[in-house]
Amino acid sequence: MKSVSDLGDLRGRRVLIRCDLNVPLDGGTITDDGRIRASLPTLNALREAGAKVVVLAHLGRPKGQVNPKYSLVPAAARLSELLGAKVNLAADVVGPSAKETVASLADGEVAMLENVRYEPGEESKDDAVRGELADAYAALGDVFVSDGFGVVHRKQASVYDLAKRLPNAAGTLVKVEVEVLKQLTEQPARPYAVVLGGAKVSDKLAVIANLLRTADTLVIGGGMVFTFLAAQGYEVGKSLLETDQIETVKGYLEDAAASGKQIVLPSDIVVASEFKADAPATVVAVDAIPADQLGLDIGPESAEAFAAVIAKSKTVFWNGPMGVAEWESFAAGTRAVAQALTEVDGLSVVGGGDSAAAVRDLGFSDDAFGHISTGGGASLEYLEGKTLPGLEVLEDEVLEDKDA
Ligand code: 3PG
Repeated sequence: MKSVSDLGDLRGRRVLIRCDLNVPLDGGTITDDGRIRASLPTLNALREAGAKVVVLAHLGRPKGQVNPKYSLVPAAARLSELLGAKVNLAADVVGPSAKETVASLADGEVAMLENVRYEPGEESKDDAVRGELADAYAALGDVFVSDGFGVVHRKQASVYDLAKRLPNAAGTLVKVEVEVLKQLTEQPARPYAVVLGGAKVSDKLAVIANLLRTADTLVIGGGMVFTFLAAQGYEVGKSLLETDQIETVKGYLEDAAASGKQIVLPSDIVVASEFKADAPATVVAVDAIPADQLGLDIGPESAEAFAAVIAKSKTVFWNGPMGVAEWESFAAGTRAVAQALTEVDGLSVVGGGDSAAAVRDLGFSDDAFGHISTGGGASLEYLEGKTLPGLEVLEDEVLEDKDA
């Protein structure tokens, strides 16, 4: 992967940079600006180099339709504040406003196009359709910098096809993220524990299968725990359960036992009668989940056991909350895991937008962890061993150089 410094003198050149500014919003208010802050180092380096910087980004999933709910207005405003410089946001993606906004940039200034996912071509499965949009992006710039790590697993026009059309390089964020993920996949310091949470086991099947080969211990919490408990023969009441995954999960438990890997599951669960922030919560053992209750967090005994596994590990990767962390009564498990990660004597990595937002929301500072990844899906796909299109396209560029 080339670095920005490999792109030569950027003064006066139009640099298209793909960032991941997909931040959580409450109405028009950004509730976690971590992804915007993570984009600052490369943006500032480009400004200092005198480039005319054009940011391409998405927000949510507007599915090819212009929809003010997904406008980048809040992200542009926050970016302006953080950069201490006005960021003009075009009213369209590649239309007259985008062209005018880019044309009016002075050296060292930053502008932004509207949500790239307003364009149907951005996420099209048809290479030619994506290519046409990528041509329109490319016409707005001279070089391309890929810095939206959270989106490098998407084969989309502004991530993949655009990189093929202009001289390209990886920004600092992408470089740092890949460096950390490499540490996790190539000879991690052992013991290596992975803590997985989140709602659905079906989202994590491939990564679990791969981690059973690379990690020493897999610690499971969150909604997906109930499919594991059901696979062990427990009744899970009204808890989230993916019945069609029970057999697969049984297979994982058997594989782990056969290969000497440990899958650590909770021994107690915080349950409530309904999915509500103020529903009265009780702690029960995993073999005593009442039929009319649902599990919304791991229990205190489990939190302690999970923390103990984390504490004795030299490498820990964590993705997904242990319970409904945004509700105080069901946040203790997630808080305990986050706290344990801050105490790891080795590399601790928080993977993903949701987990990152959860730890900040619980009051932890970014510095308390070895690394907070900006990409949930992207980091999991990397750990699955998949080829990520947005990275592959950059690496191709290096190979071509070598051949030249
Ligand atoms: C994310 O939030 O993980 C990234 O911004 C990618 O978004 P997506 O899952 O909608 O492609």
